[in-house]
Amino acid sequence: MNKDLYQAIIDRRSFYELGKEKILSDEELAKLVRHAVKYAPSAFNSQSARVLLLLGNEHDKLWTYTKDILREIVPADRFSPTEAKLDAFRGGYGTVLYFEDQTIVKSLQEKFPLYQENFPVWSLQSSGMLQYIVWTTLVSEGYGASLQHYNPLIDEKVKKAWNIPDDWKLLSQMPFGKPLANPDQKTFLPLEDRIKIFK
Ligand SMILES: Cc1cc2nc3c(=O)[nH]c(=O)nc-3n(C[C@H](O)[C@H](O)[C@H](O)COP(=O)(O)O)c2cc1C
Repeated sequence: MNKDLYQAIIDRRSFYELGKEKILSDEELAKLVRHAVKYAPSAFNSQSARVLLLLGNEHDKLWTYTKDILREIVPADRFSPTEAKLDAFRGGYGTVLYFEDQTIVKSLQEKFPLYQENFPVWSLQSSGMLQYIVWTTLVSEGYGASLQHYNPLIDEKVKKAWNIPDDWKLLSQMPFGKPLANPDQKTFLPLEDRIKIFK
């Protein structure tokens, strides 16, 4: 990481306008994702996170497929804002797709029946931590990224196109690229209403 964590937490924002200009090599990007997947925490150290990293043309394909799928369901007279948004994601260099392996979640439920209702929740929480690590790290390296949810609409197409096992449940998509515009100013609720401290 080339920025301290405190500043990186501030800098992580949703960037929607993305370019294809190279910042890291594909190998460095793969290393960044491997690092996050390896060290992100998971309940019972179950390591249920699964990731698909799409770069270059493979990334373009994802957003073309997504556009084709949405064109079928969004009314034609309302499609143009959707199309513009999807084209902006496609304008980026890569997308990280986050999955959770349901085989692992199910096996934990069987092994520890006392916690069976918790494992699906913990699986989502764990994925959120991984997503945050990747998002923050990408931004700290000079990328812009955002978090998208075109699942479950795109699940079947993604499974077929990249040979994804049936038990990998798609949770989110994170398109990233060279940031072309800064995010709008963000507002914050008063922290006094959100945090209680006793000492
Ligand atoms: C669990 C979760 C789901 C989100 N889903 C989407 C989404 O589907 N599309 C989107 O554009 N942004 C999504 N976001 C991004 C939020 O809208 C964004 O983080 C929030 O407005 C704060 O802005 P910032 O990311 O610039 O700090 C999601 C964020 C979280 C944490």
